[in-house]
Amino acid sequence: MMPEARSVLVTGGAGFIGSHVADAFLAAGKRVVILDDLSTGLASRLSGRARFVEGDIREFDIAGLLRAENVDTIVHHAAQIDVRKSVEDPVFDAEVNVLGTIRIAKAALEVGVTQIVFASSGGAIYGDPEGFAADESHATNPVSPYGVAKLAGEKYLFGLAHGTPLLVTALRYANVYGPRQDGRGEAGVVGIWMKKLLAGEECLINGDGTQSRDFVFVGDVVRANLAAVSRRVGGVVNIGNGVETNVNRLYELVAAACGTPRPAVRGPAKPGEQKRSVLDVTKSRAVLGLTGLVALPDGLSRTAAWFREESSRA
Ligand SMILES: NC(=O)c1ccc[n+]([C@@H]2O[C@H](COP(=O)([O-])OP(=O)(O)OC[C@H]3O[C@@H](n4cnc5c(N)ncnc54)[C@H](O)[C@@H]3O)[C@@H](O)[C@H]2O)c1
Repeated sequence: MMPEARSVLVTGGAGFIGSHVADAFLAAGKRVVILDDLSTGLASRLSGRARFVEGDIREFDIAGLLRAENVDTIVHHAAQIDVRKSVEDPVFDAEVNVLGTIRIAKAALEVGVTQIVFASSGGAIYGDPEGFAADESHATNPVSPYGVAKLAGEKYLFGLAHGTPLLVTALRYANVYGPRQDGRGEAGVVGIWMKKLLAGEECLINGDGTQSRDFVFVGDVVRANLAAVSRRVGGVVNIGNGVETNVNRLYELVAAACGTPRPAVRGPAKPGEQKRSVLDVTKSRAVLGLTGLVALPDGLSRTAAWFREESSRA
């Protein structure tokens, strides 16, 4: 029988960010359904209070699931997230990130879902920023198939929802780090370095380390998702810290969070790597009330504490 209470569907809810988002909706008293194929997600991240359905967004009967679970909101985090893999196999990347997203939108329109929140990427869509920080009106110049697919996903969602009551929110995340992360995401280097430093191993910095990124704590990304739904905010919104941090400085902070003075070793620069990335987050403050963000040293020490606990469990 269909549940009476409306549900939130979190696709990719066994992943790093999606599992935190699912937990936060549960804590806010929502009924949560998770659709995830566990390709990179982990069953151990699933809350026992969420209803979990194992399935692939490329082929699953999404409309059937939305009806059966009485879903009114979809928070779409399922994706192929590996930028390098998107270069090696752009067809697969587009099948998951473009076609999968279109399937979600079509099912949502068929069933009458009221809002889709899409996990997009400010880090991958803007390319090297032309001014200081990229705001939502900055030109889009994705340099990887992953970035192209995220932008296409946004465009399809807004295009398909146009003229319908479906509200679409594209949250363009900066480089997200925090507990439960692994080495693959856009801030994967934090996870890779923390694991190595806590195991007493050496870390590598590619190139001169002056390449910069905007690092945002996963808890703040979660707050953005909840606010987008509770305030019914549509459109494109950057979610970042608005602070540019270069890789050399990031390493110092990660090493401090891990309590080690160990210096990094230097390797060759990665060809084609984006030089700079920082988001203008004025809009997220205004429309989502996203203020008081976690500062990088604090977020990194919370993340290091989680990695320490993890390694003591293993
Ligand atoms: N991590 C970042 O820094 C970052 C930055 C910008 C945007 N994003 C976006 O946020 C979302 C979550 O990223 P994450 O870092 O938590 O990655 P993740 O790999 O941990 O999470 C993705 C989840 O989607 C699931 N999945 C993958 N393909 C699927 C499919 N075909 N059908 C069903 N489920 C599938 C995976 O099993 C995994 O649980 C993604 O859409 C990603 O593009 C992440």
